[in-house]
Amino acid sequence: MKKIITIIGARPQIIKAAALSRAIQKKYADKLREIIVHTGQHYDDNMSKVFFDELGIPSADYNLQAGSGSHGKQTALMLEKIEEILLREKPDAMVVYGDTNSTLAGAIAASKIHVPVVHIEAGLRSFNKSMPEEINRIMCDHVSTLLFSPTKSGFNNLVKEGFNPDARAPFTADNPAIYHCGDVMYDNSLFFSDVAEQKTNILSMYQLSRGGFILATIHRNNNTDIPERLNSLFGALQQISSEQSIDIILPLHPRTAKLLDTNLNADLLNSIRNNPRFKICGPVSFLEMIALERHCKLVMTDSGGVQKEAFYFKKPCIILRPETEWVELVECGAAMVTDADAGRIHAAFDHFNKGNQIQYPAFYGDGHAAEFICNEIIKQL
Ligand code: UD1
Ligand code: UDP
Repeated sequence: MKKIITIIGARPQIIKAAALSRAIQKKYADKLREIIVHTGQHYDDNMSKVFFDELGIPSADYNLQAGSGSHGKQTALMLEKIEEILLREKPDAMVVYGDTNSTLAGAIAASKIHVPVVHIEAGLRSFNKSMPEEINRIMCDHVSTLLFSPTKSGFNNLVKEGFNPDARAPFTADNPAIYHCGDVMYDNSLFFSDVAEQKTNILSMYQLSRGGFILATIHRNNNTDIPERLNSLFGALQQISSEQSIDIILPLHPRTAKLLDTNLNADLLNSIRNNPRFKICGPVSFLEMIALERHCKLVMTDSGGVQKEAFYFKKPCIILRPETEWVELVECGAAMVTDADAGRIHAAFDHFNKGNQIQYPAFYGDGHAAEFICNEIIKQL
């Protein structure tokens, strides 16, 4: 029996972890024992607890209650507490997801005391080091022992950075293994999409018609913290909603919600609040989110996860960032990068609104990425 410690903390990591926990419970319970450590980076019920309840994730064995703070403070607090747990639990490996401060803290704590790091969602690059996530993912990849990339482009990035695609076992941090294995988020979307249909009534709650609304999310720090960008984004959404008479639903991340009053122009905020078609709500549950993704007309987002989920549900996506790590979405024509530029957002909306046929190739695996990862952890560590 191998003992693994899984680090989660931010909303998307809790969701991603559901796929691995499900695979362990169903197929590998006699070979893998998982201890879940929640750093507490996200702590509101609708950013954390709701996903445990809804996705059947075992409750966390430890909650570090790191909470919000500057990068240094938040990461340091987690690092210290994770190290204590590793020394006590002596696991065979540590699993981390994605690119948040929780990922970085886990990777540093484990690698320094020679616990092999398994990085799920390895190799993704925006080539923009002003993003905290780019720093986190590069640092994490370079101390990991098993690196699982969801995409071919992620795998290729690792090869370009010097990882050996032909490395042979035994694997260590100095002789890591890299894999292209598909996306655990795709596993989840497939698994939960029918359940979402039966268990949620979000469309009727917000009077949204199937195929007749835009789903938007905005939470990236460079969008929320820079007033010009936030105004440009909300201005574009408001204008599209008014001119096209189309509903927009925007489940708002708490980071963005807290900055609306200070960073958004008061007149714009008023006009949005007086527009019955612009529906701003709090963060929704995962099942509600995939029901929205499944039935919207189009997605506008700066989220990494939501870009891909739009693709899984065959919806075009406008990416409200200067670039994306998920380059295949743009290359195949399913998504367009517009940054926070109102003109580019309008042009992208017009492009997709014409209803041109889009291809959605199987870039993200076959829905069994989590099983592949479990098998390799059991075999290699
Ligand atoms: C973090 C990740 C980001 C990821 C996002 C997913 C880092 C550096 N960033 O960004 O990569 O895309 O999570 O959602 O790790 N807040 C609450 N309640 C909560 C959580 C946060 O009110 O439960 C507010 C706090 O004011 C906090 C702010 O949101 O200061 C930002 O939270 P934080 O976890 O630092 O970063 P995110 O923007 O959520
Ligand atoms: N999500 C959710 N409710 C919301 C917004 C997002 O359940 O109100 C889910 C979404 O379906 C996806 C994940 O959260 O699975 C993406 O997380 P987020 O956008 O916070 O972070 P990112 O992927 O950009 O790191």
